[in-house]
Amino acid sequence: MSAQATVAPAPAEGVAQAGPFEPVIIGFTCNWCSYRAADLAGTARTKYEPNVRLIRLMCSGRLDPTFVLKAFAEGADAVLVSGCHPGECHYIEQNYKALRRFQLLQRTIEALGIEPQRLQLVWASAAEGVRLAGEINRVTDEVRALGPLNWPADTVVDLDAVDLEKAWEATGGDADGPPATAGGTNPQHAAASQPATEVAK
Ligand code: FES
Repeated sequence: MSAQATVAPAPAEGVAQAGPFEPVIIGFTCNWCSYRAADLAGTARTKYEPNVRLIRLMCSGRLDPTFVLKAFAEGADAVLVSGCHPGECHYIEQNYKALRRFQLLQRTIEALGIEPQRLQLVWASAAEGVRLAGEINRVTDEVRALGPLNWPADTVVDLDAVDLEKAWEATGGDADGPPATAGGTNPQHAAASQPATEVAK
């Protein structure tokens, strides 16, 4: 990532920019739960707003704070983070680390002039397609009400100025996120899990 990123809202492919404001929302999902929930919603033909672009991670604990800052810096109006319910993470407790990072990131973006409501966290199991669809719709409506992320076009955010090292330590997160073991190390899930083949690194 470059040290500096010019903040310029970029129209996302497929989202109409003429007419009423339509937010661009980046959704970081867990391979084992929320990504599958979104898939389930699709196969069940449960409709949800097309404003969200889903990015699949192995676990919500893999979310590096810079992913969120980069999304905002490159034009996202909001970021949605979603993972397994507490106690159900395939990597045992990585979603608790994701929760701490989320809380810290909300404070960080507020300090950068971004409303904290533009970063949201939703727990969803693989079976909760309908619920996740409802949460995506709710977040989309809330961001519509907030309006575009109106940073001045010439604003430059120095990402290096954000002390992510301290932030990272405060979350107790390690540099690599969850272990690479397919299926994780949670004994409740490991036996039934299959290796993922299309996982965003
Ligand atoms: S949050 Fe889903 S595996 Fe950790």
